[in-house]
Amino acid sequence: MMMTTTASLFNPKQFIEEQVAKVKAEVKGHAVIATSGGVDSTVAAAIVGRALGKDLTAVYVDTGFMRKGETEQVREMLGHLGIDVRIIKAGDEFFAALKGVTDPEKKRKIIGEKFIRIFERVAKEVKAAYLVQGTIAPDWIESGGGARDVIKSHHNVGGLPKDMHLKLVEPLYDLYKDEVRKVARELGLAISERQPFPGPGLAIRVMGELTKENVELVREACDIVETEIETAFKAGKLNALPWQYFAVLLPVRSVGVQGDIRAYGHTMCVRAVASIDAMSATYFHLPHDVLERISRRITNTLKDHVNRVVYDITDKPPGTVEWE
Ligand code: XMP
Repeated sequence: MMMTTTASLFNPKQFIEEQVAKVKAEVKGHAVIATSGGVDSTVAAAIVGRALGKDLTAVYVDTGFMRKGETEQVREMLGHLGIDVRIIKAGDEFFAALKGVTDPEKKRKIIGEKFIRIFERVAKEVKAAYLVQGTIAPDWIESGGGARDVIKSHHNVGGLPKDMHLKLVEPLYDLYKDEVRKVARELGLAISERQPFPGPGLAIRVMGELTKENVELVREACDIVETEIETAFKAGKLNALPWQYFAVLLPVRSVGVQGDIRAYGHTMCVRAVASIDAMSATYFHLPHDVLERISRRITNTLKDHVNRVVYDITDKPPGTVEWE
């Protein structure tokens, strides 16, 4: 597909009008949209919602890998947009499918396929023939689009099963994140500045095998990282918020001490990056007192499990933003 926009010439108002017209012309009947509450899928939902009205059903899959409070927030936000929302609680299904799986690409493929099967199920119920996704340019570029190498299979690209019956509609396919944010602002969406969150969610922030306990640890740590960094930003300690900021549970245990008792606990890694479009990124220079607070809060809150916190100072390249 040809790139239709460049950052400097990009006109969000015109983009919305063009996409609404395109969806109206191309989609005949009911569609389901895969929505996560993130900027991309919410913008896609708002645009396609304008085009299709009641012929759009938003499907939010609670995979069990969502952040703290996320499902409730998404329910409320999509409700405000006037879009019909179905929340599918599928945590047990996802955990069962991922049991024993440690390879990052396998995890991503399994998650991608599960997502599609659930959407297919809902689509059948509402008699939809179309699946709308908030795929953006970096998703398919990194998934090996064109002549490129597969860096990682984004759940909404590399994970699509070959025998999928739904026709794909991807209105943001050619956009980069900064352009999606411009469209979100134009649409007046409150989530326009929200940090990105990957579709596979916390599943790719627990290195190695997923257990409910490990996911719970990283969920709590991600919440601490988010609140501490946002508090520091509001207090004027940071000039800007990082592009993304979160925690990753590493498959490394180390010896520590609590009081005078030996501990042998998990290691939590804190990651914060600056970026423009996630194609490249630099590690974020967080002030040491902010890092210290994050470390203390993580080791206090999760004291029976985590006894070491490290900060990732790798750029992309050679790293990527997420660890899997
Ligand atoms: P990486 O880790 O490849 O991430 O440097 C680039 C950006 O993409 C997000 N990401 C994903 N988003 N589905 C998504 O919707 C995915 O499977 C996925 N994997 C990574 C990542 O959080 C970062 O913003």
